[in-house]
Amino acid sequence: MKIAIIGSGHVGLVTGACFADLGNDVICMDQDVHKIRRLMHGEIPFFEPGLEELIKKNTSNKRLRFTSDMAEAIHFSEIIFLCVGTPPKENGEADLSALEHVAQAIASCLTDYRLIVEKSTVPVETGFYLHKMIKQNLNKKIRFDVASNPEFLREGSAVHDFFNPDRIILGVESARAKKLLLEVYKPFQVPISITDICSAEITKHASNSFLAMKISFINLVSQVCSKVGADIEKVAEGMGSDHRIGRSFLKAGIGFGGSCFPKDIAAFIRISEKLNVSCSLLEEIFKINEFQKIDFINLVRSKLRKVKGKNIAALGLAFKPDTDDMRSAPAIDILTQLRAEGAKIKAYDPWAMPEAKKHIKGIKFSKTAYDACQDADVVLILTEWREFRDMDLKRLKRTVKLPLIIDGRNVYDPLEMKKSGFKYFSIGR
Ligand code: UGA
Repeated sequence: MKIAIIGSGHVGLVTGACFADLGNDVICMDQDVHKIRRLMHGEIPFFEPGLEELIKKNTSNKRLRFTSDMAEAIHFSEIIFLCVGTPPKENGEADLSALEHVAQAIASCLTDYRLIVEKSTVPVETGFYLHKMIKQNLNKKIRFDVASNPEFLREGSAVHDFFNPDRIILGVESARAKKLLLEVYKPFQVPISITDICSAEITKHASNSFLAMKISFINLVSQVCSKVGADIEKVAEGMGSDHRIGRSFLKAGIGFGGSCFPKDIAAFIRISEKLNVSCSLLEEIFKINEFQKIDFINLVRSKLRKVKGKNIAALGLAFKPDTDDMRSAPAIDILTQLRAEGAKIKAYDPWAMPEAKKHIKGIKFSKTAYDACQDADVVLILTEWREFRDMDLKRLKRTVKLPLIIDGRNVYDPLEMKKSGFKYFSIGR
């Protein structure tokens, strides 16, 4: 099929490259001319495992190309996927201005039927709004459909997630839209849920909020574990073995970050408020998430006694492993606070340091994890990159000034750390 992707950010590029790999002809459009030029030269603007190879493969076999010309993208395609950003406004509401802009541009380019599919995460009823805006901006009567097909891709495993979804949600309100989307998703042998547009939109917001709720729940339980000397890892294992609860997203730590959970929960809260639905449960998810960072800082303060003048090694900066994304990364708040209290911080992250430099001021960045740990009074683990799990503990012990590790991601086994001669503190254990 001929597919246009409008918005070539994380979701757009992954979606476009993966659709091309399935044998479709795909054109990825973005208004950022510089980004498109870089993509045409094979430069990928962010780190996502497997994406570069996929883009190279599909651009060389001519199934994938890039443009900054909206009209070219619209004329080429049968289906248009909207993957533009919906960032939060000051009050948490989703900012739909990019979507509005795109709707107007599409309307001015339409010459015959197109299916326009929302893929970006949007508040419920955006589909109706989109339909209205396009209709209002059309010069003549042209048939088109709007549909919702939310994405469930995780950064760091987005390519894998695209090809191995748990389910596909299609919010469609015409037989033609349904037929086209079923054709696009024909290669997937997974449950396809066909629904109205509003239900599809809510499914996405509710899924992200629920996952974030699981994280905040286990973080809350980790607080209880800390107080009584229980082990949150064992508790999570015990809870997660019940298939009604499930093991995933029960990893306690310094809280969730990223561009999705914080933004989507805030937007879901605003929608609930507008609809007069009590949203205190959603608010509590945020509160617990903020508390995890404060509690971690308090732990560092208590183990160092005085933060001022101490050498802190920070291992991991990204909001999670396998990405260079620093948006809402817990490391930002934690290190900014410790820096403000006079700590001398050396940080290392395998991928996120160029991004981190924009977000955290006054700290040094090291070339390796061991460099960052040189003469450290304490080592903080802030992202669970595999390379930290595999560190040579004997070498690490020789490198640091004091063998003190505070692990915000429960990377190590406390017994092993004790045997290796470290004073080791982690979350809820
Ligand atoms: C999330 C969802 O998982 C995707 O399904 C969704 O498509 C995406 O948002 C989106 O809306 O676009 P993502 O933000 O990439 O994906 O990352 P996750 O793997 O969900 O992790 C989010 C945060 O939760 C990270 O900071 C991670 O460290 C934290 N987390 C995750 C925990 O603290 N504990 C856990 O058990 C799991």
